[in-house]
Amino acid sequence: MVSTSVINICLIAITLLANGINADSEFVMRELQVDMEESNSEVITVKKEIDIEIKDTKETKYEPNWASIDSRPLPSWYDEAKFGIFIHWGVFSVPSYVSEWFWNYWQGNSPHPDVVKFMEQNYPPGFTYADFAKDFTTEFYHPDDWAELFKESGAKYVVLTSKHHEGFTNWPSEVSWNWNSMDVGPHRDLVGELATAIRSKTSIKFGLYHSMFEWFNPLYLEDSSSNFTTRNYVTQKTLPELFEIVNTYKPEIVWSDGAVGPVEYWNSTGFLAWLYNESPVKDTVVTNDRWGNGCACHHGGYYTCQDRYNPGKVQNHKWENCMTIDRKSWGYRRDAKLEDFLTIEDILSTFASTISCGGNMLMNIGPTKDGIIAPIFQERLKQMGSWLKVNGEAVYSSTPWRAQNDSLSEGIWYTAKKGAVYAFVLNWPTDNLLKLGEPVSMGTESKVTMLGWANALAWSVSGKEIHISFPDATVSELPCQWAWVVKLQNFK
Ligand SMILES: *[C@@H]1O[C@H](CO)[C@@H](O)[C@H](O)[C@H]1NC(C)=O
Ligand SMILES: *[C@@H]1O[C@H](CO)[C@@H](O)[C@H](O)[C@H]1NC(C)=O
Ligand SMILES: *[C@@H]1O[C@H](CO)[C@@H](O)[C@H](O)[C@H]1NC(C)=O
Repeated sequence: MVSTSVINICLIAITLLANGINADSEFVMRELQVDMEESNSEVITVKKEIDIEIKDTKETKYEPNWASIDSRPLPSWYDEAKFGIFIHWGVFSVPSYVSEWFWNYWQGNSPHPDVVKFMEQNYPPGFTYADFAKDFTTEFYHPDDWAELFKESGAKYVVLTSKHHEGFTNWPSEVSWNWNSMDVGPHRDLVGELATAIRSKTSIKFGLYHSMFEWFNPLYLEDSSSNFTTRNYVTQKTLPELFEIVNTYKPEIVWSDGAVGPVEYWNSTGFLAWLYNESPVKDTVVTNDRWGNGCACHHGGYYTCQDRYNPGKVQNHKWENCMTIDRKSWGYRRDAKLEDFLTIEDILSTFASTISCGGNMLMNIGPTKDGIIAPIFQERLKQMGSWLKVNGEAVYSSTPWRAQNDSLSEGIWYTAKKGAVYAFVLNWPTDNLLKLGEPVSMGTESKVTMLGWANALAWSVSGKEIHISFPDATVSELPCQWAWVVKLQNFK
């Protein structure tokens, strides 16, 4: 009895050691509940899984250089989460025309004729971008409802724009005088209210997007015209903001963007060393890779590389596909057409290909200036949630399998978990017969099921192919309406 329990724990320890936990590690066993059952014939079963937290007794001090910053292991919650929601919200949600780059398209270096004309036709001469802020009213912003919707979507984290390139802070920043959500517009702490709602209503992780640069900030423009030899903008604006949002809202993700300028200018490694060594979220926080020129896809936490990054191959570093339901914009657009929005089939195809290659998907919605999440976004989120209720087993905490997509049939992506292989089947197979070229049966113990479907599926081996009979069912009997997941046990 006792000896079996010890053996089990030893096996776990060996596994952890094999996974690179060093000898200084201390095993803190939380809720160590190994319920043993002994029958007359001495058959013993371990009934509950053991929840172990590993704590490094030797505290790592990160140095402000990439070699050190990049050596930090990514907190495991992030890879397990797979699916997050991105929210682009700001003063750009007031004109809500073309995209969140509206101001830049109006008055930046290469104006968009559409936007210039829109301003000429609809606003008086002398109207400034700042004049939009008073109409950022947010009167229908009910963060508790947002939190409920996000929970229903099955997402495990959210990332809200605390400040986009326009510079308007969605929290009452000390360093954004009269250009923040408390002084003008909402007269509310949009960031703080969402943080509170998410944390009190859900177990979703709360993250913040933050733009390092601002298109029109005079200090930034001065620094950049001095070829970044002066750093007034960084010391008076960017870094104080980053410290503020981390200390005040304790985000589990700091999603940096718009870091146009050298890393030394931004002092990104200095900030990250503080974040990892001393900040209130030092053990759990996750960051991305947009910390200065040349960083994307090379340095920081997980890699985002570029927007909608989806390499179609396994990467040797954790990555995220940030994408948006509205193909043309991250911010809300009043004039978006139905066909501009991804369908749930499009989204599940992107999701399956992303997670099978080791990525997470961060899917964006753009709320309106009044604080409404438009029904089209609600529908997509709820569709994701209904699908994940059935198929979450193949998603959360899964890992890439040896093959990412099938070699024979198109539109099949794989994940693996606890010895099982999961095939995401994006299109219902012709004649109900799915042919797979990758899985190999390991004998009579092999079993094929569909998640959410009670009966095992009939299958056979045909040369190097596995043939699987899909349920002969009506649409309403099916466990879900899109992207069915086949679970293969005892296949390799
Ligand atoms: C600007 O600074 C970079 C180094 O950060 C240097 O390589 C480049 O030559 C400088 N450009 C000018 C015009 O001084
Ligand atoms: C960079 O950031 C670190 C941590 O906040 C700080 O100690 C250091 O003085 C900063 N260096 C510069 C050049 O700003
Ligand atoms: C598998 O995915 C790769 C990369 O996306 C693609 O080039 C290839 O055609 C796919 N194979 C099949 C059979 O669809």
